[in-house]
Amino acid sequence: MAHTLYNVFFSPTKSTEAITDKVADAIAQDRDLSNLIMNLTKPNRRPALVSGEPGDVLVFGFPVYSGRVPAVLMESIALLEGEGAVAVVVGVYGNRDYDDALLEAADLLTMQGFNVIAAGAFSAEHSMAPRVGAGRPDADDLAAATQFGHDVAALIEAGERKMPSIKGNRPYRDGMPDTGMRPSTTDACTACGICVKLCPMGIIDADDPAKVGDGCLQCNACVKGCPEDAKVFDAEGAKKIVAMLEGNCMARKEPELFL
Ligand SMILES: Cc1cc2nc3c(=O)[nH]c(=O)nc-3n(C[C@H](O)[C@H](O)[C@H](O)COP(=O)(O)O)c2cc1C
Ligand code: SF4
Ligand code: SF4
Repeated sequence: MAHTLYNVFFSPTKSTEAITDKVADAIAQDRDLSNLIMNLTKPNRRPALVSGEPGDVLVFGFPVYSGRVPAVLMESIALLEGEGAVAVVVGVYGNRDYDDALLEAADLLTMQGFNVIAAGAFSAEHSMAPRVGAGRPDADDLAAATQFGHDVAALIEAGERKMPSIKGNRPYRDGMPDTGMRPSTTDACTACGICVKLCPMGIIDADDPAKVGDGCLQCNACVKGCPEDAKVFDAEGAKKIVAMLEGNCMARKEPELFL
């Protein structure tokens, strides 16, 4: 019977998607699985049900937020049913640190009935501070993601079903506080509506895109996607975070793989 590779990810600014796709494609190819892409980024795609079974593989990709799995994904994770399927965790972070996020994701998927056999942390451009991790993922990162996928496929073939030792601490560090921070909109806005479609929380007003409601993730999808550069995080708190990241996190970090 044909089995399925579930390529499930959340990726507001698309670096997680780029890495997770490479991992998933390599596993699907080597294991001859049908590749089912489930992009959880748009609000109308969440949550989504996965009913796994032995022989299936889940690749779960997420951006690291404050060293944790983004809280917005908890409802979706609760609908991933493993039933003995294998899972691979892919955490993508902005060249600061992934802290406890890989371990947390592995624990959550284990509780959902998956056999987590591998986890990878990949560095990418920081969505809040584009000079940090600039240009990443690059060709070397994508090649490392593909090789990780091939190595995972070989482990599955060899019958490995145990969770490896994964960097991180329990209890996990505190997650993101709700600061109420959200982007401002400058007079350059033409009300084109692009940001409305990009927002993973659906909180940008379609009739007046300068209005941003509660629940902003600070994911920066609207900032990066605006053709007029009209969405900006200009609050003092946001500027301090950027300065801290640019001051401390410029040295290149390589992928860290646990399998
Ligand atoms: C709210 C928020 C918190 C973040 N926290 C961290 C972090 O703790 N460590 C880190 O290295 N990067 C952090 N990042 C950066 C993202 O993990 C990184 O840019 C990631 O590549 C974004 O994924 P995406 O392109 O799929 O949206 C954070 C980004 C946001 C928006
Ligand atoms: S993408 Fe930019 S220009 Fe278009 S509606 Fe949003 S803020 Fe305005
Ligand atoms: S409004 Fe907030 S959640 Fe929506 S795209 Fe912009 S930064 Fe992301």
